[in-house]
Amino acid sequence: MRVVKVFKSYKPFNLECDSIAPDKSISHRCAIFSLFSDKTSIINNFLLGEDTLASLSIVEQLGAKVNRDKSHIEITPPKELIEPDDILDCGNAGTGMRLYSGFLAGFEGLFILTGDKYLRERPMGRVINPLRDIGARIDGRLNGSLAPIVIRGGKLKPFRYKSSIASAQVKSALILAGLKACSKSYYREDKLSRDHTERMLNGMGANITLLNNGWLEIKPLKKPLKPLNIKVPADPSSGFFFAVASAIIPNSSIVLKDVTLNATRIEAYKVLKGMGADIEFIEKENIYEPIGDISIKYNGELKAITVSKNIAWLIDELPALAIAMAVAKGKSVVKNAKELRVKESDRISSILDGLNRCGINTSERDDGYDIIGGELKSARVNSYGDHRVAMSFAIAGILSSMEIEDVACIDTSFPNFFEILSEITKIQ
Ligand code: S3P
Repeated sequence: MRVVKVFKSYKPFNLECDSIAPDKSISHRCAIFSLFSDKTSIINNFLLGEDTLASLSIVEQLGAKVNRDKSHIEITPPKELIEPDDILDCGNAGTGMRLYSGFLAGFEGLFILTGDKYLRERPMGRVINPLRDIGARIDGRLNGSLAPIVIRGGKLKPFRYKSSIASAQVKSALILAGLKACSKSYYREDKLSRDHTERMLNGMGANITLLNNGWLEIKPLKKPLKPLNIKVPADPSSGFFFAVASAIIPNSSIVLKDVTLNATRIEAYKVLKGMGADIEFIEKENIYEPIGDISIKYNGELKAITVSKNIAWLIDELPALAIAMAVAKGKSVVKNAKELRVKESDRISSILDGLNRCGINTSERDDGYDIIGGELKSARVNSYGDHRVAMSFAIAGILSSMEIEDVACIDTSFPNFFEILSEITKIQ
């Protein structure tokens, strides 16, 4: 087990950072969606993290030819998908497993999806059940609740499905299945979840429309889509660790370059601004979605905040936000965030366990927590194999040295995290 010690830094930092990891959600989608075309997709700045490389290997197992030069990737899809001669390993990636489930359900062949020990404990019924309802032959352990998932792909019925959770993974799985159904399908979620799938597929020529009545209409594909030609923007969820660092280290600042500014992804920055940090968004271009720089400056002690709305838009940033809450003045409250329980770890319990070890008072609820801001004490904390928990406590280490157990998981999403952190403080 890899343990890292991050030492307290006594110096402010002022960085302009163009090496935040490329967006994980978009990179997974680039790999999978390239298979809907009959031409070569060109992807620059693909995330070379373990999760997205697992998605790329699956594309190859399904018959695509992948040419890779560092993060420049060219994917030439096969004429027909190949039935793979081995299982498909999604690693730690819920996005990979859930999107591939919806995608493969509509193709002829037998496909078996598995993942690491953490992914094999995450709920899969949320995609398996609706896919079964539209005629997919799909199963998993515990009557379709857990991976490995076995799919015997084939014909799918059109559907009208109202999801009880705002999940982009569930929505995307159903959209991918809907594209292969025999006529129009409809999907609805109460709150919009991240919408990269709709934007990217429409950019490739698909017809997915949010109707005035709140239903998403998915028209089946009649012909192959145009290939992708994209430079993946930086990941705002990865950048957020350093945003928190700038907001809590006196006189520090950072400019995160070329990040997606998609509204469904930058809500946590707005919360951090609400806590008092000086934050600006500078939009520069629009490639499938708005892209630009985010500037974050220390602006005095943060104040506590209550977070109970738009949870799907900041769910991945709540671990890092918890570090900001731990040093803010007053009691911060997080509500309606039960989904945290089924992420790469039970994030409510892993965040609170770490904060308690650092001497911060917290209280836990089924769907959230309270954090009473105070002084972080140096501690040894466990990441529970969760990349975002590991990186959040590494950031806390800049304020008061931390030892973090089990940090190898950071390679799933942000392989150069420690390189950037070492520009700010000492690491061992
Ligand atoms: C993701 C959607 C979110 C997010 C995850 C990536 C995606 O999960 O937490 O890290 O790429 O679609 P849910 O769809 O389960 O909310």
